[in-house]
Amino acid sequence: MQVVHTIAELRRHLARFDAPAFVPTMGNLHEGHLALVRQAQQLGDVTVASIFVNRLQFLPHEDFDTYPRTLDADCAQLEALGCDVVFAPSEQELYPEPQGFKVHPPAALADMLEGHFRPGFFTGVSTVVMKLFQIVFGQCKAGGHAVFGKKDYQQLMVIRQMVRQFALPVTIHGGEIVRTDDGLALSSRNGYLTPEERAEAVQLPRALQTLVAAVLGGEHNLAALEQQATDTLTRRGWQVDYLTVRRRADLHPPAPNGFLPGELVALGAARLGRTRLIDNWEF
Ligand code: PAF
Repeated sequence: MQVVHTIAELRRHLARFDAPAFVPTMGNLHEGHLALVRQAQQLGDVTVASIFVNRLQFLPHEDFDTYPRTLDADCAQLEALGCDVVFAPSEQELYPEPQGFKVHPPAALADMLEGHFRPGFFTGVSTVVMKLFQIVFGQCKAGGHAVFGKKDYQQLMVIRQMVRQFALPVTIHGGEIVRTDDGLALSSRNGYLTPEERAEAVQLPRALQTLVAAVLGGEHNLAALEQQATDTLTRRGWQVDYLTVRRRADLHPPAPNGFLPGELVALGAARLGRTRLIDNWEF
């Protein structure tokens, strides 16, 4: 496995391949990331994972400085998996000058849910992903592939739309959420949880499952169900940003009584102590 730190080195290395399959990450890898890499290994003629904690997608009060940076352990896991290339640029390499050009996703998709609670987040994500795509796929002869986890559901939709609207030569693939035995979605931020918070954290997927079960059971008053779910978590000490049922197609609320199971997703974001968790359930 090659570990490269510069754009020039990566381009040199990829020049002899036709169709890279790419997994962008911020490192601190867990089984969820590794599943995305395994998926990528089935798609292209070379598998590339990037590790870069992207300052642009963090708000000033968020955890950019403390975000876990575990490059050696990450590389060991990727090597064991048979990943071909790790691209781990420094900030100076990826942003040698202030990144004045940015990709602003459409408000109708990016200003709600995560974008509402983390303003600028999707601009930061879209900008770095566009830049990484230019670096990884800039010289690819056949179309490339990129794999994004479904845990960041809205992010996956933003990236799909960006690729479509800019006609980028990349096929985007969604990777299923990987969960612990008790149902918690794997996330690098789970490492911030105290043992007590870790035990409590499963209440987020449970709240989503309860919402899903109620809708599948025929209850269509979504506002009431969402409020009940929010109240339940709030009583347990959570600070809820949103718990909501949306259309999968555009993440907007379904029309009352005008929706069919099979086209919906329940999404949630809530804070437990100082840790903000997100999760979702397609149904
Ligand atoms: O999902 C992530 O880890 C990040 O948002 C991404 C896609 C690597 C961009 O920094």
